[in-house]
Amino acid sequence: MDIIIKKALNTYNLKHNEITQLLKSDDTDLYKAADYVCKSHKKNIVHLRGLIEFTNICKCSCYYCGLRCENKKVKRYRLTDEQILSCCKKAVNSGYRTIVLQGGEDGFWTVDKLCYLIKKIKEYDIALTLSIGERTYDEYKAFKKSGADRYLLRIETTDKELYSKLHPEMSFENRRNCLFNLKSLGYETGTGCLVGLPGQTIESLADDILFFKELDADMIGIGPFIPHPDTPLADGNKNNFDLALKVMSVTRLLMPDINIPATTAMETLRQNGRIIALNSGANVVMDNITIDEYKSLYEIYPDKKSTGTLKTDLESKGFTISSGKGFRYDSL
Ligand code: 5AD
Repeated sequence: MDIIIKKALNTYNLKHNEITQLLKSDDTDLYKAADYVCKSHKKNIVHLRGLIEFTNICKCSCYYCGLRCENKKVKRYRLTDEQILSCCKKAVNSGYRTIVLQGGEDGFWTVDKLCYLIKKIKEYDIALTLSIGERTYDEYKAFKKSGADRYLLRIETTDKELYSKLHPEMSFENRRNCLFNLKSLGYETGTGCLVGLPGQTIESLADDILFFKELDADMIGIGPFIPHPDTPLADGNKNNFDLALKVMSVTRLLMPDINIPATTAMETLRQNGRIIALNSGANVVMDNITIDEYKSLYEIYPDKKSTGTLKTDLESKGFTISSGKGFRYDSL
């Protein structure tokens, strides 16, 4: 364990079997090492991103997701341009420098509609991240041209067999291509995986981490899988916090300068989960700034935590909130 961590600290590279050894061990030195790498590259500065969940309408039927189209219990919504822009304005006035526009794969949002919205949002001096699923190369290109800076698209799992079981109508190859397209178009590209999916192995999680390196992802979001009662995976394992934290820490060891969020799913599974993550390799927090009445309808998984008094909580724990846009290569 010691030797593997030392190797990671010196080279930022590990072999597949070394990664699996770290993931199988319960030695807390992993978290300490990831924290050391994070603080030496990113100081104790936390970037806040303002997250707007602008539509929960989705054509996909991902087995783990509460918003899958087969789930008829969800009350569906879609914010208007005016609602989205007023969320942005509020966010900007409270000091956010990045807005994340996240939604289901909702056909209403054509390229033209999105490009119009992107241009309007970019009139504020902020970075804009999109998280709206798989689109064509030309669509990604148009969003970029309109001003989008970053894009989040989790690969979810690199185990092809598991991928096709969980996403019957989707293709792993296409998702992978989307990510390389985003990267080649100059987006700061974010990906990540779910941890604890039924049938997922430690070996495949090591593959996920090596995939993040292969893509040279700029941001990595690691989420523990949380079973949702109205999905086919309702009976799945609920105790995925520790393994997710390990995957996140190993990712930090191997990718010292990227942005890694302390994910909301971590806070949901463990009280103080976000702070634990920020002390184990994470340096970003996504703050949900969606209009309150819609927040509870964006139920990807149950009991999704909202952020409350985030800024003061973070400052009281010794973190400094960044006043910059928080790109990967920004100087601190
Ligand atoms: N538990 C945890 N995370 C989930 N996501 C979807 N469903 C769940 C779940 N049940 C994650 C996916 C997706 C992100 C927006 O939410 O990884 O990329």
